Amino acid sequence: MKSGVKRLLRRAGFDIVRSTNNRGGVDDFIPFEATMRAARAAGLSVGDYIDEVMNGTPGATQSTVDELRTLGVFDANPGTVLEIGPGSGRYLEKTMKECAPSRYEIYETAAPWANYLVDTYSVIAQPTAGCSLAPTPDASIDLVLAHKVFNTLTFLSTCRYFFEMARVTRPGGRIVFDVMTEGCLDPATVSAWTSQGGEGHDSYPAAMPRQTCVDLFATLDCTLEASFLAPMGFASTEVLVFGKGRDS
Ligand SMILES: C[S@@+](CC[C@H](N)C(=O)[O-])C[C@H]1O[C@@H](n2cnc3c(N)ncnc32)[C@H](O)[C@@H]1O
Repeated sequence: MKSGVKRLLRRAGFDIVRSTNNRGGVDDFIPFEATMRAARAAGLSVGDYIDEVMNGTPGATQSTVDELRTLGVFDANPGTVLEIGPGSGRYLEKTMKECAPSRYEIYETAAPWANYLVDTYSVIAQPTAGCSLAPTPDASIDLVLAHKVFNTLTFLSTCRYFFEMARVTRPGGRIVFDVMTEGCLDPATVSAWTSQGGEGHDSYPAAMPRQTCVDLFATLDCTLEASFLAPMGFASTEVLVFGKGRDS
């Protein structure tokens, strides 16, 4: 969240939602009640409110989902989906429209948002402890997602999630996540992050080398199929699409 928005929310008396079990990354998420109220007042869905008003990137969520559709991520109609850190559910809502899965598991540390997603979309909120997907059996998920999460976690937490994501994905399934790679870190952007970046959060945004992801997932039988840049505020992250047990 932009620091200006945080300041405004604090001035208005809103607390930031504390996540639990977050080991060293950005340990908060936008406040549930205040965000819902503000979205309603603006006449927007909560997802559109976050895109347009809070992040200044109208249409960003839809453009990523559109790109994933173009890449064929939803072609096989994934019946089981798992999303790490869905937050407000802005990607979850659009993913559900693309593939209508019979089972959608979430791992989310911010309890008010997890409860809201369970009530609104009938997803299954799994106990979320650190970076484990232990409640999910091996090779049980068709599509594993994490959007705008791994730039808020530490390197180690993200890597631990990587192993888990590969474990729960079935052969033929896909893994989609974005990370802030070197492709998102030209000198001008680095300079902008240093002056405009996460007030009070030296750990945000966290970077992750692209080749590290490619090499690590290759050892887990996951091949990089595609990648593209997606907006993140004034900057971007890189979305990586891996296929498990595929040759491409
Ligand atoms: C920057 S927000 C992104 C939310 C959502 N994916 C989006 O793009 O709007 C990061 C999300 O990850 C959640 N989170 C933080 N640490 C987590 C962890 N260890 N496991 C799962 N979710 C976590 C936060 O509560 C928040 O919902």
